Amino acid sequence: MNSELLKKLPMPDELGRTEILNLLLSEEYGFLPEPPVGVTADVESEDRGFCAGKAVLKKLKLNCDTGKGSFSFPVSLMYPAEAEAREEGKTVPCFLYISFTDRIPDLSFPAEEILDNGFAVLHFCYQDVTSDDGDFTNGLAGVIYPDGKREKTQCGKIGLWAWAASRVMDFACMVPEIDHNRIGVVGHSRLGKTALLAGALDERFYCTFSNDSGCSGAALARGTKGETVGKIYQNFPYWFCENYGRYAEKEDSMPFDQHFLLAAAAPRRVYVASASQDCWADPESEYLSCVAAGNYYRKMGLKGFVHPDRDPVVGDCFGEGEIGYHLRAGTHYLSREDWGHFMEYMRK
Ligand code: GCU
Repeated sequence: MNSELLKKLPMPDELGRTEILNLLLSEEYGFLPEPPVGVTADVESEDRGFCAGKAVLKKLKLNCDTGKGSFSFPVSLMYPAEAEAREEGKTVPCFLYISFTDRIPDLSFPAEEILDNGFAVLHFCYQDVTSDDGDFTNGLAGVIYPDGKREKTQCGKIGLWAWAASRVMDFACMVPEIDHNRIGVVGHSRLGKTALLAGALDERFYCTFSNDSGCSGAALARGTKGETVGKIYQNFPYWFCENYGRYAEKEDSMPFDQHFLLAAAAPRRVYVASASQDCWADPESEYLSCVAAGNYYRKMGLKGFVHPDRDPVVGDCFGEGEIGYHLRAGTHYLSREDWGHFMEYMRK
């Protein structure tokens, strides 16, 4: 384990959650829009025969009164049919899955398996919120930034997608089948970065699941062997606020590193999933970030990240603390194996 690097990292120890978040928002992701004045849902269809009738699938439109105009986007809700027996107190834990597609199920989303395991899922496709490019005139971006222009510290696309995840959370709190204290937000890759931000900002999330989120997600920027701040800001400047560009190839000058993002979720739970051949996301930097954030949790009197004092090997899964981690064999992908670990961690 690279303990020299760990010693050199800035630590959030003296900072409270609000200060950590302010730092991350002003320097990296940008400040998100205010929460909406109101959120309502229109049920557009209901399939009671979903997964052979074992589950219910509802397609909804979520309407948000942003204060700057109204914005709607599609969301799907699915839950095991037996969760409707509410009088027996059978609410179920729920995954809020930020997806790359609107397909249900999908190769990266084994819906039936998750439902069979007793979980509800709320699902939305990120590009239904706003496009994944530098155009800030469409979707939510178009409502929040009417002329398509942002200030230096106003959020980029990751912040807008994270804002949408919190609106789905607003809705989740109105769903009687769901256990409102057991909702985990899940995302892969750029949407893993999004899930981490949403989970850090919104204390209603019980747990955040980051899958292969890499640079500007779970992975430390300092000492990375994968994607750097310079590279990500060059290719995807619109994911972040303008200030982040100041740290391109100057990671050592950052007053924070990505373990601050994990620490901002304390005392709640964060789970980081890495893949052994995902060099771009850099599993080692994701692991070290958990180690560093774990020290912050421990200073709060929590377990933090319970792990052996060595680098992880394929097949390792550390789920004892408030920070969980696994290293799966293979490449950049959200696999059934990853979901299996997420479900196991949520059950704890
Ligand atoms: C690119 C980008 C990564 C990102 C990934 C994805 O590879 O460099 O930072 O995580 O896309 O979202 O698929």
